[in-house]
Amino acid sequence: MTLLDVHSLSKTFTHGSASRPAVDDVSFTVGEGETLALVGESGAGKSTTGRLVLRLTDADSGEITFRGRDLRSLRGADLRSFRRDAQMIFQDPFSSLNPRMRIWKAVAEPLLVHGLCPRGELKDRAAALLDSVGLGTHLLDRYPTVLSGGQLQRAAIARALSTDPSLIVCDEPVAALDVSVQAQVINLLLDIQQERGVSYLFVTHDLALVEKLAHSVAVMQSGRIVEYAATDVLFADPQQEYTRTLLSAIPELPEAAAV
Ligand SMILES: Nc1ncnc2c1ncn2[C@@H]1O[C@H](COP(=O)(O)OP(=O)(O)OP(=O)(O)O)[C@@H](O)[C@H]1O
Ligand SMILES: [Mg+2]
Repeated sequence: MTLLDVHSLSKTFTHGSASRPAVDDVSFTVGEGETLALVGESGAGKSTTGRLVLRLTDADSGEITFRGRDLRSLRGADLRSFRRDAQMIFQDPFSSLNPRMRIWKAVAEPLLVHGLCPRGELKDRAAALLDSVGLGTHLLDRYPTVLSGGQLQRAAIARALSTDPSLIVCDEPVAALDVSVQAQVINLLLDIQQERGVSYLFVTHDLALVEKLAHSVAVMQSGRIVEYAATDVLFADPQQEYTRTLLSAIPELPEAAAV
């Protein structure tokens, strides 16, 4: 079943007079329980696409259908319900978690915001969420500054999972982590998908990761999708010179094998 259907989506940011679209006539679908990777060079429009899909940025034109409903026209209670159902994980867990908030509060905050859990039970829920991402409950009362990058990203994942979303936009979620920790976090994301059937829109520069976790791939260049295919098809038979360049930049084994 299709969870997310994006059709001819465009967005131009106007800085001064000169402007070219950040996202230009972009179309793709994400199936339930599946992962679509968005790849491409810096400035290609990957993060903007993720933000448009989450309604964090308003599109200029195009259609976004989520669970069969027109996302761009959602208002009020329907929009709030969408905000529970779609979450985001960012590249830098150091800046995505409030440094002055204890880990349990940060993890449970979406539950509080959406009124999904009585106050008195928030800490217990946070403990269960930490456990589900492989973090010990001894971290509950700590502040983000004393956690490692990998621990923080796990906490950010726990926070994203708190509302039991069906879509998570992951924007370079392991790019800031050590290679050994990257593999662990990727495996956690894969386990979560297996267990919960969550869909990922997965933004990355790393084609080795794409091969490991994506069902399909959209290659972006200057705001446009220049190639879009099932992962195995794209790797076996890239159609665009640009895609071949990206593929040729994949580091040789053993790094790819370790992930
Ligand atoms: N809030 C904004 N205001 C103005 N311009 C923006 C804004 N966000 C993105 N842009 C511009 O839109 C284009 C696409 O940016 P975007 O961040 O989506 O690229 P990206 O593919 O995620 O790049 P990277 O790999 O570096 O993260 C860029 O030219 C960028 O400068
Ligand atoms: Mg980006």
